[in-house]
Amino acid sequence: MTADPRTGAGPVADLTDDDVVIVEVGPRDGLQNESSHVPTERKIAFIEALADAGHRRIEATAFVSPKVIPQLADADAVAAHLPVRDGLRFTALVPNAQGMERARRTGIQEWAVFTAASETFNQKNINCSIDESFSRFVDVIAGARADGIRVRGYCSTSIHCPYEGRVPTSATVDVVRRLLEAGCNEVSLGETIGKGTPGQVHELCSALASEGLLSACAVHFHDTYGMGAANALAAYDEGVRIFDASAGGLGGCPYAPGAAGNTATEDLLFMFNGMGVKAGVDLDKQVAASRLIEHVLKRPMPSNAYRALEARGKKRRPNLEMS
Ligand code: HMG
Ligand code: MG
Repeated sequence: MTADPRTGAGPVADLTDDDVVIVEVGPRDGLQNESSHVPTERKIAFIEALADAGHRRIEATAFVSPKVIPQLADADAVAAHLPVRDGLRFTALVPNAQGMERARRTGIQEWAVFTAASETFNQKNINCSIDESFSRFVDVIAGARADGIRVRGYCSTSIHCPYEGRVPTSATVDVVRRLLEAGCNEVSLGETIGKGTPGQVHELCSALASEGLLSACAVHFHDTYGMGAANALAAYDEGVRIFDASAGGLGGCPYAPGAAGNTATEDLLFMFNGMGVKAGVDLDKQVAASRLIEHVLKRPMPSNAYRALEARGKKRRPNLEMS
């Protein structure tokens, strides 16, 4: 059975080649940046609600240093209690051999290694150079291969760096190629500070396509300047079919000052639904999952589509609120 590159699993019967898969990163990218403490059982309830919405891929947590990212210090407990659903796979960030041992104990299905196209961001984020990050990945990727686990690679700052400014497209193409050559099954292009615009997305995607690399890429846009959906459309037009997004637009990176959350899953679903492009996720149930975490965080979710759909009325709401 040939794997569908969008899921890493078997063919997706209900999706055509024009349809997309969303990687829901709210539980990881979203919650890593929250100042308030989210209890483990609430994270698990949030993930269950996302699973109920029909997601095929959810990034659940990160096996990173709890001193650096205390918000995800309960990664082991979260990963041990993930819901089981047909066709649903979970990912977690795995930065080094120590993270790999933790991930391995939980049996999570996909590991994500992460580096960047700019040196300064990489130093701030993972305390090493780009070259050193690849040396760390060798063991993680070899371990994944030995266990039959799929590996996703992130290339952060793929268009703009918060410290170095506009990142040369050639630098991003180089890191993407190295991640794939190192054994990653897929590379997610992190637009970490959300400053990229559609023309820059076209430029990057066409450079990757001309090197034969784009078919293995997902896009991961942050929405700081409100460009997330426009950038996703530009990437879709270039042939990208895997889109990272977070419930309600949660998110940000502690090492990208001022960066807002990811492009909201609701915004992408609303756009793709309007285009007749299927993602296999129920928008009303997605809104219900975001509502649930909004109640926990006690702050409004930034997503435009989420807020519009909430304002539309309460009569069709699944009752997912937690007391
Ligand atoms: P380091 O300090 O260079 O590592 O951190 P170290 O090996 O010297 O270890 C230092 C301490 O951390 C030791 O503890 C280790 O045991 C511990 P001590 O002896 O001091 O008590 N340690 C760990 N503990 C648990 N799990 C581990 C682990 N590793 C070390 N895996 C390291 C290097 C990479 C670990 C650290 O810098 C780190 O965890 N960084 C993670 C930063 C992070 O999570 N950033 C956000 C995610 S990336 C992102 O958001 C971008 C993305 O969304 C895409 C985009 O938007 O662009 C993906
Ligand atoms: Mg991110």
